[in-house]
Amino acid sequence: MQAQLNELKTKSLTAIAQADSSKALEEIKISIFGKKGELTALLKSLGTMSKEERPAFGAMVNEVRQELEAAFEARKSAVSEAELLSRLANEQIDVTMPGSRRARGVLHPLTQVIEEANEIFLGMGYEIVTGPDIETIYYNFDALNHSPGHPARDAQDTFYTEDGFVLRTSTSPMQVRVMEAGKLPIRVIAPGKVFRSDPVDATHSPVFHQLEGLVVDKGITMGDLKGTLLMFAKELFGDNARFRFRPHYFPFTEPSAEMDASCFACDGKGCRICKGEGWIELLGCGMVHPNVLKMSGIDPVVYSGFAFGMGLDRLAMQRFNISDMRLLFENDVKFLQQF
Ligand code: DAH
Repeated sequence: MQAQLNELKTKSLTAIAQADSSKALEEIKISIFGKKGELTALLKSLGTMSKEERPAFGAMVNEVRQELEAAFEARKSAVSEAELLSRLANEQIDVTMPGSRRARGVLHPLTQVIEEANEIFLGMGYEIVTGPDIETIYYNFDALNHSPGHPARDAQDTFYTEDGFVLRTSTSPMQVRVMEAGKLPIRVIAPGKVFRSDPVDATHSPVFHQLEGLVVDKGITMGDLKGTLLMFAKELFGDNARFRFRPHYFPFTEPSAEMDASCFACDGKGCRICKGEGWIELLGCGMVHPNVLKMSGIDPVVYSGFAFGMGLDRLAMQRFNISDMRLLFENDVKFLQQF
């Protein structure tokens, strides 16, 4: 018995000393102290001994148990520390490794111009309204004083649907929608997409963007129109740009005008972009035609108004020095990133 106990002691001490992981130690612990462990078995055999032998052997077994437990605890703390150190070494984060970069987007130049224009008009007390891209013939033409055979209908040749609608040729139908709603006075802008069957070139696209403006109140004059638009244009282009108004014709305004800005590319000297003129057309405008007011239920004797419609794509080109409208629609990230 004693020899067996000694053998167990030596064997266990070696095993404990050689164990190199907490898991291995735990297995050894079970094989010694567990229910079916070797030391447990020796303790059980105490029952088969004579009363005289029992105390001495019991004491010896206990001594061995304490010794093994101490060895076990010592080894356990050494092994856990080693394990912790190796985990720390392995799980280290290399802060010098290049990270994964998320590309930062920018607003499209057109979106930027729309937002800037909206801001400027909001600052002047205007409200922003939006409406349908697909319009009725009435809102797109008739209510804007284009009689059925009017040549301006051809000039804005566009896309019709088979059931009698039209992709709106300008944002002007929004004027009618707002006037019909009946709330006076009116001070609104309406940005949005418009459509014409124009062939694509450096300054034309079948889809483009306009911003419509409409003011209706008592005593509105052409002076209000010019003052408002000059203030807007100076905000957008800075104090150095020059502007001019030219008489023009639109069926829905009388008198009508177009507003030009000095060419951004040549500063008015004349170049390829302004086709040698030194000026670039910014917008159409005028005093709302009495017929248009009447058709929308507003008394032209009491009320007057001005309206304007600007091409936002050309505005963006002017603002950002972009010489070809196609660049705005091609969505080449390398190009768009610059703005
Ligand atoms: N609808 C015109 C166009 O597309 C632009 C325009 C001109 C709008 C004069 C207006 C205006 O409101 O008064 O060419």
